[in-house]
Amino acid sequence: MIKPLVAGNWKMNGLKAASSELTQLIQNCPDTESPESPDIMICPPATLVAGFAELAASSPVIIGAQDCHIHEKGAHTGDISAEMFADAGARAIIVGHSERRADHGESNELVKTKALAAHRSGLAAIVCIGETEDQRNAGKTLAVVEEQLTGSLPDEISDETVIVAYEPVWAIGTGRTPTVEDVAEVHGVLREQLINRFGAETGNAIRLLYGGSVKPENARELMSIANVDGALVGGASLKAGDLLGIVSAYSPG
Ligand code: PGA
Repeated sequence: MIKPLVAGNWKMNGLKAASSELTQLIQNCPDTESPESPDIMICPPATLVAGFAELAASSPVIIGAQDCHIHEKGAHTGDISAEMFADAGARAIIVGHSERRADHGESNELVKTKALAAHRSGLAAIVCIGETEDQRNAGKTLAVVEEQLTGSLPDEISDETVIVAYEPVWAIGTGRTPTVEDVAEVHGVLREQLINRFGAETGNAIRLLYGGSVKPENARELMSIANVDGALVGGASLKAGDLLGIVSAYSPG
């Protein structure tokens, strides 16, 4: 059985005052030790990673980061390395988010190198893939996500070092989600591909998150789909109450 993960991607949101949301999350999050309850992660903007990691240090909440440079250090003004995030207390890095792919032209090859940078520094990579609306309408969803998965994952991975997030681009921040059948189809194909490439043991153990307009209201339905091992949450992760609502999709009842 895979331990689920509910990860919040704060994107370019959050000033120091937003630490009150993290405090609320820490105070109210369920015991994450039991196998059914999900791990809980917050990936704040880079400016908040160190402070959040300190605040969450003796709590079950894991702190992650968003994007990194491929190199450890050097003349790259404005960039942040995976080693720096590790030093700041992050345990994972989101790479290949569709906003990076669209805004910064990131290719699968670059995303793969960033995943390797995360591994080099001892961090897990949350590798994002997903089709655009045009690609879905053209019937290319499976071909697109398969190509992205193949190209974005390094060869040497384990279920500890890689988490995959399927995020249809048209579902991000729009309030729209694919049908249960569509999510099941994509996640089933991704699982198969992971098993074919990395073997049954690793392929079956890698967490496959769904992301794109996950909210407390739809979390139970989305999280109960086969091969959905948690959520990558944008907008609804900014408020502790909403994120806890999504986490509670895993509690019985
Ligand atoms: P959303 O974003 O939950 O606001 O749709 C998800 C994401 O981009 O990770």
